Amino acid sequence: MASLQEQIQQYEQEIIAFQSANAAELEDFRIRFLGAKGIVKQIFGEMKNVPADQRKEAGQMLNAFKILAEEKYDSFKAQQVDTKASGPLVDHTLPGTPLPLGTRHPLRVVENKIVSIFERIGFSVATGPEIEDDWHNFTSLNMPEHHPARDMQDTFYVSTNPDWVLRTHTSSTQARILETESLPIRVICPGRVYRNETISARAHCFFHQCEGLYVDKNVSFADLKQTLYYFVTEMFGENTKVRFRPSYFPFTEPSAEMDISCTVCGGSGCNLCKHTGWVEILGCGMVHPNMLRNFGIDPEVYTGFAFGMGVERITQVKYQVNDLRMYSQNDVRFLRQFQAIQ
Ligand code: DAH
Repeated sequence: MASLQEQIQQYEQEIIAFQSANAAELEDFRIRFLGAKGIVKQIFGEMKNVPADQRKEAGQMLNAFKILAEEKYDSFKAQQVDTKASGPLVDHTLPGTPLPLGTRHPLRVVENKIVSIFERIGFSVATGPEIEDDWHNFTSLNMPEHHPARDMQDTFYVSTNPDWVLRTHTSSTQARILETESLPIRVICPGRVYRNETISARAHCFFHQCEGLYVDKNVSFADLKQTLYYFVTEMFGENTKVRFRPSYFPFTEPSAEMDISCTVCGGSGCNLCKHTGWVEILGCGMVHPNMLRNFGIDPEVYTGFAFGMGVERITQVKYQVNDLRMYSQNDVRFLRQFQAIQ
């Protein structure tokens, strides 16, 4: 009995000192003390050797010992359950979840192409505000109030200030550049413009333009033609032909519209060129002397050319996008088709 008591006390020390950090250690503890062949079972087995008069006392001691082992085990087991409950184990060595790459919007891709073609021949980028005042959007461009040319563009007015409009064209940036920059000027001005149009496949209330402006001594119509011809061959390929048709814009004199040979049928006739073999891509001309005077530039000394093109139009001609609404519908099946030309 004495030796049994000593044995139990020794084991009790061991149980009290036991600390477990992980499941494997705790399981070892369970097997050692509480398992089918564990110490608790063993010691209970020795009860038969205890003299009958001491059995009661020995039984109480053994029960206390068993409870000590069980409680120790249960307390660590509970902690382990807690750690599990705080979240699943993460295997940091697993490969990550691949995220698909997005693509640039086709209009941005085309705008970038236009800009870089002009940058290569010395044009720099200029931008202006989308909310414009009457002077920069109309009046300074040789379109005073009540000028009939204002009706060519249905304008959105800002309700809080009758002098403010959502710019109807990027020509307003021309005005701002002539106002602030010193000569010579050679800029390309991309940006969003707005018109009060009913949305359909062929019209939208906002779209994008790129404006070009070159003002210096001795700038001629021949320079304009050659610059635009260079642009067309870079954008649509060497074999593309150009033609200029006389036109009217208040801020240029003379004015022209430029057509290119149809990029789809090459001139034999198709839907894009409406069976004419030609597609119109931009308006241009020599900067009107009145406009130069509006910004204190002497038209006897300086001349300039300007042009304006629609980015949606260039994209349509280059990539056969036939519905303007697609650009703002964010349908990834449409957008993904431009992955190859990023
Ligand atoms: N601003 C004109 C438009 O929106 C386009 C344009 C035509 C711009 C001739 C020009 C130009 O700079 O010279 O229809």
